Amino acid sequence: MRAARCEAYGGPSTIVIHDIPAPEVTPGHVLVDVAAAAVNFPDLLFIADQYQVSAELPFTPGSEFAGRVAEVGEGVTHVAVGDPVHGSVFSGAMAEQVLAPATSVARVPEGLSMVEAAAFRVTYLTAYHALITAGGLQPGQWVVVLGAAGGVGTAAVDIATRLGARVIAAASSAERLEVCRELGAEAGIDYTSEDLKARIKELTGDGADLVLDPVGDRWAEPALRATRWGGTFVTIGFAGGDIPKIPLNLVLLKNVTLRGLELRTWTVRLAEETARAQAGLAELVAQGMRPAVSEVHELDDVALALQRVADRTPTGKVVISIGSSEATQQQRSQS
Ligand SMILES: NC(=O)c1ccc[n+]([C@@H]2O[C@H](COP(=O)([O-])OP(=O)(O)OC[C@H]3O[C@@H](n4cnc5c(N)ncnc54)[C@H](OP(=O)(O)O)[C@@H]3O)[C@@H](O)[C@H]2O)c1
Repeated sequence: MRAARCEAYGGPSTIVIHDIPAPEVTPGHVLVDVAAAAVNFPDLLFIADQYQVSAELPFTPGSEFAGRVAEVGEGVTHVAVGDPVHGSVFSGAMAEQVLAPATSVARVPEGLSMVEAAAFRVTYLTAYHALITAGGLQPGQWVVVLGAAGGVGTAAVDIATRLGARVIAAASSAERLEVCRELGAEAGIDYTSEDLKARIKELTGDGADLVLDPVGDRWAEPALRATRWGGTFVTIGFAGGDIPKIPLNLVLLKNVTLRGLELRTWTVRLAEETARAQAGLAELVAQGMRPAVSEVHELDDVALALQRVADRTPTGKVVISIGSSEATQQQRSQS
């Protein structure tokens, strides 16, 4: 099968496309014919060997995919051969076939195309867990989303707005904030030119009820300082580069709940909560919610797709359509 390969750690240009043996199905796993794979920020960290856990060379990047079940391993009962599924893996999604643990594979919610389904699982499940499972979001609450024009960010703005929250988006330009406004954000803050803490306080009065932070770096602390007494701050990632060191007196004095969220382990350790989140998301999809996909590239252009994300250029999600697959045919019929 054809697959993107990382054979030496480095930037996107080091990725090559090779023929490699297809994976074989094992107990508790599902083999999927991949129709589309989404690019996620951690893919860049994996190929540069900067993620918390190293991927051993050589490997196929890609942690999120949609496609059809080709084979199921012993003990797998929730999906069958031919089912449309989407899922997440540590690596391996940017290939014609991927082997995934059964716990990380679910049926595609009714109404999503393969490209949309590939772009949906990681960002929307992460955003939903952050907002609802960790954040306990209630209608009418003020939610601040950092990195709001990115993958997790657009998903969070979308879900929070649909659930009746008042969303403040923070991003790095007026154009990127406009994308968030179109998704339903009530206000936007350009955190590269405005005072993030002062603006959040000005807009909310009392401070944010809930902050979602996929960026970290120098923006986490001012956002925490602008969280209201008794509010919640959810740390999701560090796309800004540095992992912030937070003075704990801020957490104490404000009685803030500080939550961490790592989807990879949540889907296994919090299976019931994850099933509830998936049901909640399926309901929102039935009401018309769709992920914001801004670019679709072919498998041959994985390096370009990764470079676009590294350059911080796209809004929403970048997706790889795999070969002459179902995703490509769906894209053609839609254009
Ligand atoms: N905890 C989990 O389970 C989980 C799940 C998914 C993702 N994540 C993490 O969440 C973060 C965001 O993921 P994503 O898929 O949303 O990524 P993404 O689509 O690339 O979005 C990240 C956003 O961060 C902002 N940003 C600020 N400084 C940046 C910098 N120096 N380089 C790149 N972007 C920068 C960018 O928006 P502006 O230019 O507008 O600032 C960008 O839109 C990543 O750290 C990822 O590892 C964690």
